Amino acid sequence: MKAISFGTLKGGTGKTTTTFSTAGTLKSMGKNVLCIDIDPQANLTSNFGANSDEGLKTILDVFEDDETSPEKVIVSCNGIDLIPSTIKLTGTEMQLVNYPGREYILKNFFEDYKDFFNRYDYILIDTNPSMSILNQNAFIASDAIILVNEAGANSLGGSLIFMDLWEGITKRLRIQNNIKGFLINRFIKRTKMSNDFVECCRNHDRIKDLLFNTIVPVNVKLAEAETENVPINEYAPTATGALSFKEFTKELIERV
Ligand SMILES: Nc1ncnc2c1ncn2[C@@H]1O[C@H](COP(=O)(O)OP(=O)(O)OP(=O)(O)O)[C@@H](O)[C@H]1O
Ligand SMILES: [Mg+2]
Repeated sequence: MKAISFGTLKGGTGKTTTTFSTAGTLKSMGKNVLCIDIDPQANLTSNFGANSDEGLKTILDVFEDDETSPEKVIVSCNGIDLIPSTIKLTGTEMQLVNYPGREYILKNFFEDYKDFFNRYDYILIDTNPSMSILNQNAFIASDAIILVNEAGANSLGGSLIFMDLWEGITKRLRIQNNIKGFLINRFIKRTKMSNDFVECCRNHDRIKDLLFNTIVPVNVKLAEAETENVPINEYAPTATGALSFKEFTKELIERV
């Protein structure tokens, strides 16, 4: 089992789209996938067509109740398992402030139910744009953190500050820095801003070695797939978005 978190400090760069599309692509390659939504906005949960208002148990139960077992919180969504999120998770963050070992709750959950989680080839975790305690749980429990960026639009700053903060946290916690990738999303070939962004990343000392060769273009089918609750590889398998995520997923498998 490999756990991978998608993050950055800027909103709307495509973290959720990347999680959803990569999950679908991994499934199409025959992999057993679990997605975990730890963003209180619960966009990934909506993409899967799950709804926490319908009495579903969610990731909140994992953080707030030590007795929660994985079977209680996992829902199956067309062959991909999901631990959903809920807007109520915002309150959990506040409760965790005084909780001993607060950054290790998710990692301990994986370890306590090791046999259960080892049945998955990949666990993909979608985070919100912050370095919250909830997100730190995701990053600590992961083998790799992938930074998701929007070509242009000040996205670089969001990832560079993320890298600084995470480096400081890993040093204090005496753990390995596990940032293993930098993905460029929402690329528009004809714009100078997009091309300049790619050029800047390819030459950037802190980024060039993390950069994936695959660059994901703006493709409306990616957004449509989400409203239809079907990952891009099933919704529009020949669309540029689907082909890009196929290439990205192959690179990801090799790297993690
Ligand atoms: N390559 C793309 N082409 C077209 N639309 C995209 C692409 N990537 C993302 N989108 C759309 O852009 C919007 C924002 O993407 P997404 O929700 O994945 O960003 P995010 O980083 O998860 O945002 P947040 O920081 O709020 O969690 C969504 O409506 C999504 O469908
Ligand atoms: Mg999101």
